[in-house]
Amino acid sequence: MQTNSLRNKIILIGFMGTGKSAVADGLASVLELHKHDVDVAIVKHAGQPISDIFAQSGEETFRNIETEVLQELLYSPEASIIATGGGAVLKQVNRDTMLEHGLVIHLIASADVIISRVKHDTGRPLLQGDVTERVHQLMSARAGAYDFAHYSIDTSNLSLPEVVSQIVELWHQANLK
Ligand code: S3P
Repeated sequence: MQTNSLRNKIILIGFMGTGKSAVADGLASVLELHKHDVDVAIVKHAGQPISDIFAQSGEETFRNIETEVLQELLYSPEASIIATGGGAVLKQVNRDTMLEHGLVIHLIASADVIISRVKHDTGRPLLQGDVTERVHQLMSARAGAYDFAHYSIDTSNLSLPEVVSQIVELWHQANLK
């Protein structure tokens, strides 16, 4: 992988409920880097919860804020861990900028694992209604959308520390800083 001073981030992508935020916390603590959660930054930027942004302004507005916030984090000079939202991969500009600025890791979990994690959650507007049906629909609509990552890790049979240590190993191998 080519060394470039700007490629100093670990960027986690993956479907909702694949553990991006928890893994980002683990990485931040082991590597002693700041962690940024794009969803949290969007809520701060918009001054309202994600479900309200979707309800009042629509998904397109949410996606535009998501791109703005993500680009700002990616162009920041500090080395960091960035947990993205599950739909951040849908725009080409986001995919290109993620690849330019760091090591992109795709976290995978089975539909059953995802459903068990998100079924009681009310903060994800795209999963309202029949959660099982929505997860299956969205997973098939997004098939292949995460394949641009440098690496994919199936977390289904791994503990959180195992996922974190695999990524730490990949980060050291990539030697991007
Ligand atoms: C979304 C995923 C969510 C959040 C928003 C839309 C998506 O983030 O950005 O509800 O389109 O997959 P998480 O993946 O952190 O749940």
